Amino acid sequence: MIAAIRGTQDILPGTIERWQFVEATACRVFEQYGYAEIRTPIIEREELFAKGTGETTDIVQKEMYAFTDKDGERIALRPEATPSLVRAFVEHSLEQAMAVPKIYTLGPMFRRERPQKGRYRQFHQLDVEVFGVKDPSVDGEVIDLAWTLIRELGITGVELAVNSVGCPVCRPSFAAALVAALGEDVQTLCGDCQRRAVANPLRIFDCKVPADQRVIDALPHTIDYLCDECRTHFEAVRRYLDVFGIPYTLSHRLVRGLDYYTRTTFEVLAGQIGAQNAVLGGGRYDGLVKQLGGPDRVGIGFAAGVERLVLALPDTLALPEKRPAVFIAAIGEPAREAALTLLRDLRRAGVNAQVEYEGRSLKSQMKRADRLKAPLVFILGEDELARGEVSVRRMATSSQESVPLSGAVEFVKTSQ
Ligand code: HAM
Repeated sequence: MIAAIRGTQDILPGTIERWQFVEATACRVFEQYGYAEIRTPIIEREELFAKGTGETTDIVQKEMYAFTDKDGERIALRPEATPSLVRAFVEHSLEQAMAVPKIYTLGPMFRRERPQKGRYRQFHQLDVEVFGVKDPSVDGEVIDLAWTLIRELGITGVELAVNSVGCPVCRPSFAAALVAALGEDVQTLCGDCQRRAVANPLRIFDCKVPADQRVIDALPHTIDYLCDECRTHFEAVRRYLDVFGIPYTLSHRLVRGLDYYTRTTFEVLAGQIGAQNAVLGGGRYDGLVKQLGGPDRVGIGFAAGVERLVLALPDTLALPEKRPAVFIAAIGEPAREAALTLLRDLRRAGVNAQVEYEGRSLKSQMKRADRLKAPLVFILGEDELARGEVSVRRMATSSQESVPLSGAVEFVKTSQ
């Protein structure tokens, strides 16, 4: 047997209903907020993520699936959607094509992380992005959208964490403050952190090594180093959250593991799903569009992990059971033909009807109907055919009656 690859999973009936609920709810809410769906390829040039997600991130340095194609081109499986959506925004001049460039996408992403509960190598994101709006009210709207999504899914016990990571004006002084605060302690940190201290000190906050945490927890906070514009922006974002009645905590370590963020960053954490508890994360990225070769346009968005949302759904969530409205059991070849014609008519009328394919005994056909949980069974034999009727068994009560074959479709539709 050839098994599925580590860190990937098959989503089977019984679970897929929860995925369909999450995806349908997300699409409904995103569209309600004025976002339009787009789909981009799973494979992109490696360069897009090296430049976009960032050379110094764990995603690009350690986790990206990348390979050399037969023509020598470096290709990557997308580890996230944001750089692809920025590329599409620029490549198709969506700014001209759309009244407001608000877009969303959903699909698989790939990161070669160590698999564990809630962390996979192929996982799925629901991602929204807005381009071209500098005003902090859009930060408020995007966070409100995230919060509405969580609420509409019925997920409770979550916490919204927000922070501001500043901009290229104030970031250098914060990076310098980090390095100064670390001082000699940098030598006690892991090898990754020692490299981060030189290449991009902010990335030190991504460190998960337990022994490093004491030093990292004592480091300065980004919000104490914001320039005036970033401080005013962040104050306005917080005011919008208050006005919208969205509770949040200020999280100083929330710099997020991607390089493009400027100003607002946020995450929604669901404690009950285990160690991998970030169900959703996002923020503003005011320099990314330009950095990827586009016009100087700001952007903000978030992505939610579908696997984690599904894990966080309430246990009490009752999804409608999928079952046929009627099962048709036929005895004998002439009745079988009539049964298949009736099956076709029922389906054309939009009814979920099922039949036994292998002409087996009535008993085994009834068993099949039972397994499928069909509430009604049409029984068609020689006698019924001769009378132009069909016998109907109501499975819940085992009661039986006859209806004219010509009225069988109507009968199912009215009993549904
Ligand atoms: P991210 O925080 O890397 O952000 O991922 C967003 C969400 O994807 C996480 O909160 C988590 O729910 C899910 N996720 C990430 N990695 C895995 C994994 N290995 N297994 C399962 N779920 C995972 C981004 O990707 C940004 N592009 C978000 C964004 C959009 N920022 C601005 N716009």
